[in-house]
Formats: sequence, structure tokens, C-alpha cells
Amino acid sequence: MTWVSLLFLIVPSILLLPHSLSQAESDTLKQGQQLHDWDELVSAEGVFKLGFFSPGSKTVDIGVIAPRYIGIWFNKIPFYPLWVANPNNPVPDSSGVLRMDTDGILKFAYKGGSRIAVSSNRAKKANSETNITATLLDSGNLLVRQIGADGIAGPILWQSFDYPSNMLLPEMKLGINLKTGHEWYLSSWLSEQLPSPGAFRLGLNPNGSRELMVWRRGEVYWRSGEWKNGKFELAPELTEGTFTKQLDAYQFRFVTNENERYFSYSKRSNFILSRWLLNDLGQIEQFTRDTSGWIWETTSPCNTNYTMNATGVCLNEKPSNCRNGSEFFAPRKGCMNVSFTYMNIDDNAGLALSDCHAKCWTNCSCSAYSSVFDNGTGCEFWSREVQFIPDEGFGREIYLLTYDQSINGTSSYHRVP
Ligand SMILES: *[C@@H]1O[C@H](CO)[C@@H](O)[C@H](O)[C@H]1NC(C)=O
Ligand SMILES: *[C@@H]1O[C@H](CO)[C@@H](O)[C@H](O)[C@H]1NC(C)=O
Ligand SMILES: *[C@@H]1O[C@H](CO)[C@@H](O)[C@H](O)[C@H]1NC(C)=O
Ligand SMILES: *[C@@H]1O[C@H](CO)[C@@H](O)[C@H](O)[C@H]1NC(C)=O
Ligand SMILES: *[C@@H]1O[C@H](CO)[C@@H](O)[C@H](O)[C@H]1NC(C)=O
Ligand SMILES: *[C@@H]1O[C@H](CO)[C@@H](O)[C@H](O)[C@H]1NC(C)=O
Ligand SMILES: *[C@@H]1O[C@H](CO)[C@@H](O)[C@H](O)[C@H]1NC(C)=O
Ligand SMILES: *[C@@H]1O[C@H](CO)[C@@H](O)[C@H](O)[C@H]1NC(C)=O
Ligand SMILES: *[C@@H]1O[C@H](CO)[C@@H](O)[C@H](O)[C@H]1NC(C)=O
Repeated sequence: MTWVSLLFLIVPSILLLPHSLSQAESDTLKQGQQLHDWDELVSAEGVFKLGFFSPGSKTVDIGVIAPRYIGIWFNKIPFYPLWVANPNNPVPDSSGVLRMDTDGILKFAYKGGSRIAVSSNRAKKANSETNITATLLDSGNLLVRQIGADGIAGPILWQSFDYPSNMLLPEMKLGINLKTGHEWYLSSWLSEQLPSPGAFRLGLNPNGSRELMVWRRGEVYWRSGEWKNGKFELAPELTEGTFTKQLDAYQFRFVTNENERYFSYSKRSNFILSRWLLNDLGQIEQFTRDTSGWIWETTSPCNTNYTMNATGVCLNEKPSNCRNGSEFFAPRKGCMNVSFTYMNIDDNAGLALSDCHAKCWTNCSCSAYSSVFDNGTGCEFWSREVQFIPDEGFGREIYLLTYDQSINGTSSYHRVP
């Protein structure tokens, strides 16, 4: 989904938001308390919200039978989650509850399912009197801590910032804790409907150099180049967006010491909402907005002539002997003429759309692909001779091989070593 389309959705969704029902605008879940599907936690200054959502849904669907996830989102941008608690274990209906259990571990459960842990506290023996709480901060971080009798919070036992989804928020880290070996990285979603890890991963170069990398199914797909003088050698655009530069909105840093090695950024103003997204195509999309709702800047590495014109898929595939560089796959709504049957289905539900792209790209007889399942997984391929019948209304999204003599595949954004 593009930010332009999101803009149109923000206003109506805000109008549809219910008033927080039971927890009365609390930012904290205390030991023994639970949050139902219709409840929300709201951070102290109201910047972030935590609750249940269904991906792709733009309204509150109470009582629906659709996979439900527990997520954190900008209060002002409902249901566009920045973090997901249960990416691999959706709740099948609206019977889900998130609870701070008596053993001090954050868990969720639903009708007919057993309790599943979200946090993994390194706490000593906990009991119902130990006052372990989960608090949603205005940074978007969900902290599990013990609150002493004096009301003072003890050390952090667990935090959501250590387990990112596909979004990097200010103060989150990309890198490694050298003491524990814990790695901080982003994983793209499998599809728009499925937050489980997909084809891409963004993290640090494991060889110790100050460099960001994107892997595609374990293979290096993109690299930022070394961090030097406050920017990445091969990707200066990451820290040099117009807004970023002119208004000096952010501070970027690369930290290396005996405990950890990471990249992170901070914002200089509380009136800014910002996040980086590792999207389904393996690209980093940056987004800056102010709290009054005005979008100041979005940058996407795919902003080449290539995709702006054709809205083609911007994926950097390896050269192939049957592709000369002027091809791309463009999404079109429609269907294939059923008189032709040059079709081939791979119903592996672990395949993301970008995997279909890769397979079609390297198969010289492939001229179109699409996902098979409604949840955006699996691949369906068609070969050259097939006939496409456009249908904006009821057609499904099919990615058609397209030629444009004016483009050169070498102008692609991504640089593969
Ligand atoms: C838990 O909180 C209660 C009420 O604030 C307090 O009386 C009690 O001492 C706390 N327990 C611990 C272990 O801090
Ligand atoms: C890490 O890998 C990059 C790219 O392969 C290379 O340029 C760099 O020299 C390596 N750094 C170290 C410390 O090995
Ligand atoms: C688009 O193409 C024109 C002409 O080839 C070029 O000058 C311009 O830099 C390109 N823009 C981007 C964003 O690549
Ligand atoms: C955009 O694509 C259309 C159709 O492929 C082509 O006719 C047109 O020249 C392109 N425009 C630019 C600016 O490249
Ligand atoms: C690339 O291949 C297409 C399809 O075979 C062809 O129409 C086009 O002319 C080729 N482009 C170049 C630059 O060779
Ligand atoms: C599908 O292909 C058949 C055979 O070529 C043709 O007769 C028919 O008109 C096509 N259907 C559509 C809707 O284009
Ligand atoms: C996506 O849908 C397919 C077909 O219904 C199913 O087999 C698969 O488990 C689904 N994937 C997830 C993660 O739910
Ligand atoms: C290439 O695509 C064609 C048509 O979809 C299919 O029949 C064939 O099995 C594919 N080849 C490979 C190696 O996947
Ligand atoms: C495409 O790249 C080739 C090789 O670099 C170059 O010779 C050709 O002029 C380019 N074509 C266009 C349309 O830019």
C-alpha cells in the first residue's frame, strides 16, 4: 500500500475508532491484568497504541473471524503496525487476550488455544506479589519491568525493541549485542496480510564492518557501503533526505564498543513521527510525519524513472540470459484467457510474491506471475503465449512481463556485489 492511499484512510479510520473500553487509556498492563481484543494500551503522551488488529483492515472489526495480531502502531495512524507480538501465531478470532501472567511473563491466549509467551523474562522467580508490569512508552517500546514497593521501576526484563518486525523506529538498534549474541534485525513481512518473516532481512554486516545489509533468503541482496562521516558510502540517501538534511531532524549513529555494535537514529523533536520500513521488495522506505498529521517526507529507494512511470516491480534480480534489461513486471488487474493453459502452480505457502518474481525472472518461458492464495503466498506462473484480459473491477493482481526500450536494467537502485 502506498502512503498516498494511506492518507485517504487515516481520516475515516479515526472517526471509526471506538473509545477505549475498559483499560481507560492506561499505558500499563499490571500482573494479573488482561487486555481483550477490544482494549488498547496508550502510551503516556498518546503517541503509540497497542492492541489487536487484522492486517490490511482499515477499520475496527469487532467480532470478526479473521486472523488477529497484537501490534503497536502510531496512535494517529491506526492499524498500520510498527511491531507485532505474535507474527507466527495469529489469534483465529476476537477471543484473544493479552495478559501479564502471574509468573511475570507476557502471554496471549484465545478460546480453544493454550497460553503463548510473548516476552521471555530473565526474571528471578516471580509470583503474583512481584509487580511485574508491561508498559508502552512514547518511544513505541513495550517494556517489561518489575516495579518495587517504592514505585520505582527495576531493570528492564524484556523489551519489544529487541525483537523488531519490519520497522525501525528511532532508538531501536540494528546490530548485535556482543555479550549475549542477540541480533537486532528487521524482517520483511511474508505478504501484506502476513506479518511472519518473509524473504528479506536487514541487519549489520556480520564481518565487523560498519555497514547495513539486506539479505534475500540468506543471500546478500544489498549493501549500504561503509559508514563514514555520518553517511553510508553507497547509500547516502538514507541519511540525506531533504527533510532530514534541511531541518536536521535526526541524529544517526554507529556505535561500536565491547558490549554491542549497532546502527541507530534519534529524532530531535517530539513532534515528529518517523520510521524505516523494510518492505516486501527488500527496500528501505523512510517516512517522516509531524504529530498534527502533515506528511513531510517519504523516501523510497525505488524512486527511479523505472517504477515511477511503469509502476513495475522494483526488484533487482541477477542477470539472466533471456532478459536484456528492458523488462520489468507490472501489476495489472485482470485474468488470463482460460482457453490457454500454459500455467504452472507452486502452492508452497512459504513463498512470498518476491519469490515468484525471482522464479519467473529466471525461467525464460515465464511471462506472468501472481500469488495463489488470498493471504498473498504461493506462486502461479504463466508462459509467454498466454492472453491477459484486463478487468479493473474483479480481476486479480497479475504481474505481467513488460518491455520498455527507454529503460535500462542497469539503472536499478540495488547494487549486488
Ligand atoms: C507490589 O505492589 C504493592 C502495592 O503497591 C506493594 O505493597 C508491594 O510491596 C509490591 N511488591 C513488591 C515485591 O515490590
Ligand atoms: C567486510 O566485508 C566487506 C564486504 O565484503 C569488505 O569490504 C570489508 O573489508 C570487510 N571488513 C572486514 C573487517 O572484514
Ligand atoms: C530519470 O531519467 C532522466 C533521463 O534519463 C534522468 O536525468 C533522471 O536523473 C532520472 N531520475 C531518476 C530519479 O533516476
Ligand atoms: C511511461 O510508460 C509509457 C508506456 O510504457 C510510455 O509510453 C511512456 O513514454 C513512459 N514515460 C516516460 C516518462 O518514460
Ligand atoms: C529486449 O527483449 C525484448 C523482447 O525480446 C525486445 O523487444 C527488446 O527489443 C530487447 N531490448 C534490447 C535493448 O535489446
Ligand atoms: C480467448 O482465446 C480464444 C482462443 O484464441 C479466443 O477465441 C477468445 O476470444 C479469447 N477470449 C477473450 C475473452 O479474449
Ligand atoms: C496462507 O494460505 C494458505 C492456503 O489457504 C495456507 O495453506 C497457509 O497456511 C496460509 N499461511 C499462513 C501463514 O496462514
Ligand atoms: C518454467 O515455466 C514453465 C511455464 O510456467 C514451466 O512449465 C516450467 O516447468 C518452468 N521451468 C522451471 C525450470 O521451473
Ligand atoms: C543501456 O545500457 C547500454 C550499456 O551500458 C548502453 O549502451 C545503452 O545506450 C543504454 N540504453 C539506454 C536507452 O540508456
